[in-house]
Amino acid sequence: MNLLRQKRILLGISGGIAAYKSAELIRRLQDQGADVRIIMTSSAMEFVKPLTYQALSSYPIHTDLLDPNAEAAMGHIELARWADVFVIAPATANTIAQIVHGEANDLLSTVILASRAPLVVVPAMNQAMWANAATQANMQTLRERHINILGPDSGSQACGDVGEGRMLDVADIVAQLGDVFKNDQLAGKHVVITAGPTREAIDPVRYISNHSSGKMGYALAQAALEAGAAVTLISGPTQLTTPERATTVQVISALDMHKAASDACQDADIFIACAAVADYRPIDIAEQKIKKNDDEMSISLTKNPDILADISHSHDSLFTVGFAAETHDLIKHATGKLERKKLNMIIANNVGADSSTGFNTDDNAVEVLYQDKTSIKQQSFAQCSKTILAKQLITFIAEKHPS
Ligand SMILES: Cc1cc2nc3c(=O)[nH]c(=O)nc-3n(C[C@H](O)[C@H](O)[C@H](O)COP(=O)(O)O)c2cc1C
Repeated sequence: MNLLRQKRILLGISGGIAAYKSAELIRRLQDQGADVRIIMTSSAMEFVKPLTYQALSSYPIHTDLLDPNAEAAMGHIELARWADVFVIAPATANTIAQIVHGEANDLLSTVILASRAPLVVVPAMNQAMWANAATQANMQTLRERHINILGPDSGSQACGDVGEGRMLDVADIVAQLGDVFKNDQLAGKHVVITAGPTREAIDPVRYISNHSSGKMGYALAQAALEAGAAVTLISGPTQLTTPERATTVQVISALDMHKAASDACQDADIFIACAAVADYRPIDIAEQKIKKNDDEMSISLTKNPDILADISHSHDSLFTVGFAAETHDLIKHATGKLERKKLNMIIANNVGADSSTGFNTDDNAVEVLYQDKTSIKQQSFAQCSKTILAKQLITFIAEKHPS
């Protein structure tokens, strides 16, 4: 499974001689389908000009913390939120020390502090600097904080020394980076996920639908796969590439989705209903294109089946998770759905017109309501990329799902 496809990788480049290898790293990460943005320290710019990385990544290079123009474009907090994973390669002894001490005196160290993305440190330095007790103590602190460390390698060094401290080969960094996304939280479980909108035909060329992009459902499917689950993704029409190794069933209408989800849930452990299913469909679908005649026309609609409620009521042992996209009274409506549909959990998000999260956006922020013995509890998930949020939600679902 290619775990780097469509991942947003923030690459921090600090001032070591191995900075020249970062150019190759950018290309190889892009080959995997990753989107790469770059922060350089001022020392790094003494080794390689930002223009090299800019040409390779097709993005401006971020270098200054206190640059009002840069802040107005993509500020340091936005950059921190953007990342699905934050890789520091090469990581100098100095940058490692900054991480350990929580310093925030340049852009790279500040974004490291501000980011919730998994951090991957790829040390590169002279063998004596690496062996120094201070560096070794710093590395031990990183390990205790469960920060991912790749390398270093040993061998001949640019300075003529031989020993441990060389940056790991680019191919090995790329091969090992995907492991950051892997875990076994849902190993052995079958997870069924619906995603995207449905289309309810009016005539052969027209339909009723909604703005759902499918991004959240697809991100959940990817996160569930990375957590070791067998995943069936039932997708309405979207522009997205299906996740490798998911069994994907493409559907159009709510009735199609109802049937596909009911079939797939026969042997499922967890059902996550993320699709924006049309509540109503036209009673009659015209066999031929409806002609423009009268000034007014009306279409009679009938209610679609409630896929989630039907499945949760007919599968007692299935762990059911719903989504509530609301424009107002988020918690009130979500609580009502949780109880009425007999769900284990509901993930509520605001899709109002002034919202920067929800439908057709890359970021999301949600409130999760869940049944906890006799009461309903609430947990907030702050705004971040749908990829990161999906990972957090899958971890949360795995914790709450009785194994
Ligand atoms: C030619 C040269 C090569 C260097 N190579 C490394 C290196 O590979 N690793 C390292 O930790 N520091 C190396 N340094 C020292 C760092 O550049 C220095 O500690 C700097 O302050 C690092 O800043 P930064 O961590 O903000 O990028 C080198 C210095 C010079 C002059």
